[in-house]
Amino acid sequence: MSEVKLVRTECVDQVLVIWIDNPPINAGSLGVRQGVLDAVAQLQADPALQAAVLIGAGKTFVAGSDLREFGQPLQEPQLPVVIAAIEGCSKPVVAALHGAALGGGLELSLACDARVAAPGTRLGLPEITLGMIPGAGGTQRVPRRTGLLKGLELVCSGERITAEQAHDLHLVEQVVQGDLLQGAVAFAKGMQGRKQRIRDEAVAPVDTAAWDALAQQLLRKGKNRPNVAAAIEAVRWCAELPIDEALAKERTVFQNLRLGRDAFALRHQFFAERQTTKLPATLDVPALPFAHIAIIGAGTMGTGIAISALDAGLRVLLLEQDHAALERGLQRVRDFYDQRVTAQKLSADKAQARKAALQGSLAWEDLAAVDVVIEAVFEDLQVKQQVFARIDQHARPGAVLATNTSYLDIDAIANATARPQDVIGLHFFSPANVMKLLEVVKAASSTPQAIATAMALGKKLGKLPVLCGNGFGFIGNRIYNAYRKQVEFMLEDGALPEQVDAALQKFGFAMGPFAVADLSGLDIAWRMRKSQAATRDPQERYVSILDALCEQGRLGRKTGAGYYSYAEGKKSAAVDSSVQAVIEQASAARGLPRRTLSDEEIVRRALMAMCNEAALLLAEGVARQPSDIDVALVQGYGFPRWEGGPLFWLSQLDAATQASMQQELAEHVGHGFVKGDLHLLSI
Ligand code: NAI
Repeated sequence: MSEVKLVRTECVDQVLVIWIDNPPINAGSLGVRQGVLDAVAQLQADPALQAAVLIGAGKTFVAGSDLREFGQPLQEPQLPVVIAAIEGCSKPVVAALHGAALGGGLELSLACDARVAAPGTRLGLPEITLGMIPGAGGTQRVPRRTGLLKGLELVCSGERITAEQAHDLHLVEQVVQGDLLQGAVAFAKGMQGRKQRIRDEAVAPVDTAAWDALAQQLLRKGKNRPNVAAAIEAVRWCAELPIDEALAKERTVFQNLRLGRDAFALRHQFFAERQTTKLPATLDVPALPFAHIAIIGAGTMGTGIAISALDAGLRVLLLEQDHAALERGLQRVRDFYDQRVTAQKLSADKAQARKAALQGSLAWEDLAAVDVVIEAVFEDLQVKQQVFARIDQHARPGAVLATNTSYLDIDAIANATARPQDVIGLHFFSPANVMKLLEVVKAASSTPQAIATAMALGKKLGKLPVLCGNGFGFIGNRIYNAYRKQVEFMLEDGALPEQVDAALQKFGFAMGPFAVADLSGLDIAWRMRKSQAATRDPQERYVSILDALCEQGRLGRKTGAGYYSYAEGKKSAAVDSSVQAVIEQASAARGLPRRTLSDEEIVRRALMAMCNEAALLLAEGVARQPSDIDVALVQGYGFPRWEGGPLFWLSQLDAATQASMQQELAEHVGHGFVKGDLHLLSI
């Protein structure tokens, strides 16, 4: 037994109430398992007891297992032993759910003879998102209640459902409106000693075609990861094998997967995300209010940020420079909500309420009413400085003033106001209502209040706010630039865009870098290159392929051609031999013999370029901690989550390999290469 008692019991009207008390989330740790096991033994032994209720103290039932245990040898008693004890006990046990019953928590409740739940309780099996499958009967007991197809969906998607949905799916016997404990005790007494084990229930067979179609769909959604295939197989055993055999097989698969590479990487991401939003004590101050915000600029980003804020229940003032642009922006937001209603993703009432919380304006005086201003106008320092000078005239004292700039110096923007201490960067990613990454950029004079408010606002919008320093491109774009430069070198060295894209996609990126470039438009980079031409070191390795393509009018997808060609109306990229000619000319112009690059070299160099840049960012203090870099790349740049992020990827290689990869990178970059200290990257 652990020193602190994580489980305590009391007797209420001949019912043993088993309280799980392991704050903050009542995680199913060793002490909890042992405590429940002991309580079940007490229930069995005491003739005065009729039944038991298993309930969580505090805010929740068991909201998951203790993830840290999963990377180590598991200690007895493990969860299946506890489950077997509950099922083997001759008296009924009722689980009383509130807050969340997730993963091992839900599995524990499914061992009970009934489940009652407070309204709004969340139930789910998130193991799939952590590289595993449920390992304590989730794949066998859930489908016995929901039917095989719905069970398959729940196991393979990790989706969370409410108590009300769970009731409709027969996972929960009763939704208790009043006092949960009282309701649970009454329910337990009403069972009159009857056992009602899910394991004894039969599962109805399903149509093979329907099964296959759903399984294929879930596999695709799950990026074909091995644990998704294993989960499908495990749910299939439900219909094919005796339950004990199926449970034993499920456990073996779980034990293997939890120690697999995907699971370690995904656990790393899980903890990295939590670490990211924890602020140091110096910044741990109360956030200022932010119920009403203004967004300046109703373009791509402004409207996306507006939707994100409206979805979070905030009031939004959208400010533009002219009537037509404002109307376009407002219409874009209204259309978005209308489409959500048509697609049955949002009720008409909710859509109406969100539209009503949006106000458009051309009058800067209206800024006086808001708590936070987010600027999303053109990416031009002078324009932004003018805009901030105007904001300064009208915003109320103490309002937080944020810029969504991608690259510009936030101090230079802050200094256009008389209150630089209230200015901060809030770098959203496109589409701003979808992407979870948000870089919160601290300017030289940003106050702890401004930072805390920006972080809290980010969380309220459902984002993962990553705090970073003010440096060109902040964390994400700076690393992405290093990566993009490196893949451009590869074109000169002998590769073609389609080969580089395929190799990196095979590694797991959502899209290859050249397909991404075509999608965002090559002209943005072209303009930036031109603006930097005068100050560029002439000895630096510079790849001119992008400039040559732009000069031919190939600006990416929007012009039907970039690194690839796009037939009219078609999104799919086609290889274009004229691009190959441009690339070969570039190699010839630099006197580089073209050679074949292996997929392995492509991935190695591209990722090492990210890691080297990450080390520089940490040394410069732009990034606060290594794990933030992994969060940024996974959440904002399509880096495969199951690889954990570039630094997790690097951590899997020994020091000698890392050093030789960095040396290789130095040779390809050549003049001006700055070597990052890889020791800074340990995660
Ligand atoms: P956009 O061109 O779609 O929208 C800019 C809007 O600002 C236009 O509607 C324009 O009328 C308005 N505007 C310009 N000057 C104004 C002024 N003085 N007063 C009021 N409104 C004014 O641009 P987009 O793509 O939305 O970018 C906005 C900012 O967000 C830029 O700083 C950009 O670097 C940044 N950003 C863009 C991302 C993207 O993927 N598009 C991603 C992250 C940041």
